[in-house]
Amino acid sequence: MTTLSTLNKFKKDGTKFTCLTCYDSMFARMMNKAEIDTILVGDSLGMVVQGHDSTLPVTVDDMAYHTANIARSNNHALILSDLPFMSYVTLSEAVSNSRKLMQAGAHVIKIEGGSELCELVTTLAQAGTPTCVHLGLTPQSVNVFGGYKIQGRGDEAADKLLADAEAVVAAGAALLVLECVPAELAKAVTQAVAVPVIGIGAGADTDGQVLVMHDMLGMVHGRVPRFVHDFLTDERNSAHSIEGAFALYQQSVRDGSFPQEQHQFS
Ligand code: KIV
Repeated sequence: MTTLSTLNKFKKDGTKFTCLTCYDSMFARMMNKAEIDTILVGDSLGMVVQGHDSTLPVTVDDMAYHTANIARSNNHALILSDLPFMSYVTLSEAVSNSRKLMQAGAHVIKIEGGSELCELVTTLAQAGTPTCVHLGLTPQSVNVFGGYKIQGRGDEAADKLLADAEAVVAAGAALLVLECVPAELAKAVTQAVAVPVIGIGAGADTDGQVLVMHDMLGMVHGRVPRFVHDFLTDERNSAHSIEGAFALYQQSVRDGSFPQEQHQFS
């Protein structure tokens, strides 16, 4: 079973690890079989499962339902679960909503933001709840950003992102996710912090990689993001199966053949 200690050891040894989003039991079983290291019950389910055009409508009850579906069949992966939009504005709301997700089977709670999360991160850590802080393109803030745009470009933005990462780690964050940031910045953050960093559209130098499961199976509605690779139709997936796609992703991240330069931003 993958634990935070496993991921910390992977970081120390330079072993790249995998994460895929997952929302139901059968896919979780298949990911277990492919030995995907971590599963993210992402609030991206609002878009790929529920058909919304953002993650904002997702509720804590939705997240608890999907987390429980996965926890019931998982026997290998560390399970990360998202606190959805506006469910962690106050400390007391955040604590009570984290409890719901942990009791549904999450091992780590993922929250989006920067240094403003420090008090919450420390409170949860002291209450036995590890956090993963998601920085960069944080989809819950799409209306603040004015769209899904690369973050951390330019010295000021890059310095702020690095400072935010260091602050939340100092506050007790166990993991970071970096989404859609220049590869050089992701590398600098990964080297600066002692905890494992998972990247999506953040280049090859983060400790782990995450993709939305539907994207890496070629099920994309609209424009295919630059950082996505379709592992289902990849010719190395000789079985042409979903399990084969998961196994190929696992192998490609471990051996460093994914992501490549064309998947990253500068
Ligand atoms: O909800 C999600 O799927 C995520 C990933 C994009 C990292 O947060």
